[in-house]
Amino acid sequence: MANVTILDVIGTKRDGGELSTEQIRWFIENFTAGSVGDEQASALLMAILLRGMTPSELATWTTAMIDSGERADLSALGRPTVDKHSTGGVGDKISLPLCPLVAACGAAVPQMAGRGLGHTGGTIDKLESIPGWSPEVAGSDYARQLRDVGAVICSAGAQLAPADRRMYALRDVTGTVESIPLIASSIMSKKIAEGAAALVLDVKFGSGAFMTEMGRARELAETMVGLGEANGVRSAALLTDMNTPLGYNAGNAIEVTESVEVLAGGGPPDVVELTLALAETMCELAQIDADPASVLASGAAMDKWRSMISAQGGDPDAPLPTAPHVERIEAPSAGHVTRLDARAVGEAAWVLGAGRARKEDPVSASAGVRWFVRPGDRVAKSQLLFELHTEDPERIPAAREALESALVLGDAAPEPTPLIAERIG
Ligand code: URA
Repeated sequence: MANVTILDVIGTKRDGGELSTEQIRWFIENFTAGSVGDEQASALLMAILLRGMTPSELATWTTAMIDSGERADLSALGRPTVDKHSTGGVGDKISLPLCPLVAACGAAVPQMAGRGLGHTGGTIDKLESIPGWSPEVAGSDYARQLRDVGAVICSAGAQLAPADRRMYALRDVTGTVESIPLIASSIMSKKIAEGAAALVLDVKFGSGAFMTEMGRARELAETMVGLGEANGVRSAALLTDMNTPLGYNAGNAIEVTESVEVLAGGGPPDVVELTLALAETMCELAQIDADPASVLASGAAMDKWRSMISAQGGDPDAPLPTAPHVERIEAPSAGHVTRLDARAVGEAAWVLGAGRARKEDPVSASAGVRWFVRPGDRVAKSQLLFELHTEDPERIPAAREALESALVLGDAAPEPTPLIAERIG
């Protein structure tokens, strides 16, 4: 690769050409090693955002990102392996009931998850509200927990696609996040390196999603499924509606409580519906003959949850943190709920302390928003609509402002819309 220079790589993409395998591998290797500077990498990322990538460039780019670290080999586990990834939404706590449920169906679920940034919460942040629970799992404990319990949710180690760690941080500050090839390769390099044989993607569209337009979400889903299949990972995606937040809670501890309700056989219907649909798809791809609904009803998923939390130092019976300040918002008039805007709810939860603005910021375990009605419900004047939970009462006015137009009341209930719009793959 002696002849490749960063200026040639940038120039090729800037002028609309196709990067060669050699150029891509050279760039990812040298970027990971730190010998390509941020300003030059940013120029290339912007050229990719503007010019796109051909399928062959994208496949090479993703493989090079995987090869910047190690691809785990889980073939010795003796159980089918399958994971799920969500592109992130408001109130999206699905991994919490889903991973133990799929483990109870007979699979091993190796989920390396992240902390949240912006208005969508991170799975690790939610689980960290459980006293004692740790996201750090050493290599030998990881394999043992996967074998004995069947599910691990933990932070990614340094060897998982390290090229992405630096690239994602750079994209975040250079306006280059919103590129389908860059998003798809970022997500899939990490998921493929994790080592599961099958993967189900929950790709969200709507106001609270990363991709607001359904067409773009579909394109992202198709791209990711294609990358998974090309790398020997059986993959499928569900396109799901994130115009309305999931369940009745957005925050950390309050979402854990709602997830435990699902594992106990209750919980909000939409959370149960999505958990079961993803579990069925995961079992199908993992070639496991199980019925997730009956496994959930049997209590076996709750048993797995308890083992999964205890194995990482958590006490599944410990009371979760509660917020010292709770503010109520009531209905100004009677009517039917025609809209509950996911983005506004996510922003309010974020303002209250449940989310972070920069990746090094702490989050509050007890902060968040609870809502008590959903689109289609009839409300009476003065009925309780929202509760705002926070450790810091000075945050309440901004959260109230974020929620001002979140809930729309009309004369008639809207036509119901499906939560799961399409399956891809
Ligand atoms: N999540 C990721 O991991 N990468 C992206 O590029 C976007 C969302």
